[in-house]
Amino acid sequence: MKTFRRKVFNIPAWLLSKHALLKLMKSSDFEDIVEIPNTFVGRGLYDRIHAEQDPVEIREMAKLVHSIMPKVIVEIGTYKGGTLFIWTRTNPQAELIVSVDLPGGQYGGGYDSSREKLYRLFAHDRPKTHMEFIRGNSHLPETAARLKGALNGRFIDFLYIDADHTYEGVKADFQLYSPMVRKGGLIAFHDIQNMKSNHQVKNFWAEVKQQYEHREIIGPSTKTGNGVLFIK
Ligand SMILES: C[S@@+](CC[C@H](N)C(=O)[O-])C[C@H]1O[C@@H](n2cnc3c(N)ncnc32)[C@H](O)[C@@H]1O
Repeated sequence: MKTFRRKVFNIPAWLLSKHALLKLMKSSDFEDIVEIPNTFVGRGLYDRIHAEQDPVEIREMAKLVHSIMPKVIVEIGTYKGGTLFIWTRTNPQAELIVSVDLPGGQYGGGYDSSREKLYRLFAHDRPKTHMEFIRGNSHLPETAARLKGALNGRFIDFLYIDADHTYEGVKADFQLYSPMVRKGGLIAFHDIQNMKSNHQVKNFWAEVKQQYEHREIIGPSTKTGNGVLFIK
C-alpha cells in the first residue's frame, strides 16, 4: 500500500520538479549554471540537486574542466547530483557522462534509481550526450568492469573522485580508475582540505600530488578544496 501511494505521489512530484528544472535550465550562462544546484526546488524524491561544494571552488573547477573540452566525464560520488549537473551543463560537447555511486554509501548516501530520470534531464537537449548510471561500490572489480564496458575502448578526459573519503577508499578509486584517464586529461579529488577526522582525502592528496603537475583550488572557507592532477 505504502509503495503504491509513493508511486502515485511520484507522478505529480516528477512533473512539478521537471517543470521547475527545465525553467531554470533555459540559461546557458556559466555563472547561472553553477548556482542552479542550490537554487532548484523540486518535490518528493526530486526535491533537491544539492552540490556539496564551496561556491568559489566549484566555479573555478568548472572553468578548468571546461577548458579541456572533455568528451568523456566520469564522476565517482554523485549523491544529490550537484556536481553531475555542473559537469553536464557546462560541457555541451560531452559525449559520455558516467555517474558511479553506491546506494546507501557513506558521505552522502547515493540516490534512488528513480532519480536517474532527473539526472538524465540534465542532458535532455543534447542528443549527442549519453549518460550512464552505475549504482555500485566503486572499489569492486565488477564496477570497474561495468565502467570499462560503458567506455567501450575510450579513455576518460575528466575523472572526479568524491565518494569514499577514507585514505584507503580514495587510494582504491585512484588506483582502479586513473589508468583509464587519457594523457592530457584531469583527475580531481574533492575535500583535500577537509579536516574532519573521517575525511582523509588530504592524506592521500599530500602523497599523490608529489608525482604530478597539480593545482589546488581552495576557496575562502578553506574547509573543502579541490585538488587537480594534470595527467601527462
Ligand atoms: C559527498 S557525496 C558526492 C557529492 C557530489 N559529488 C556533489 O558534490 O554534488 C559522496 C557520494 O559517494 C558515494 N559513495 C561512498 N562510498 C562509495 C563507494 N565505495 N562507491 C561508490 N560510491 C560511494 C555516497 O553514496 C555518496 O552519494
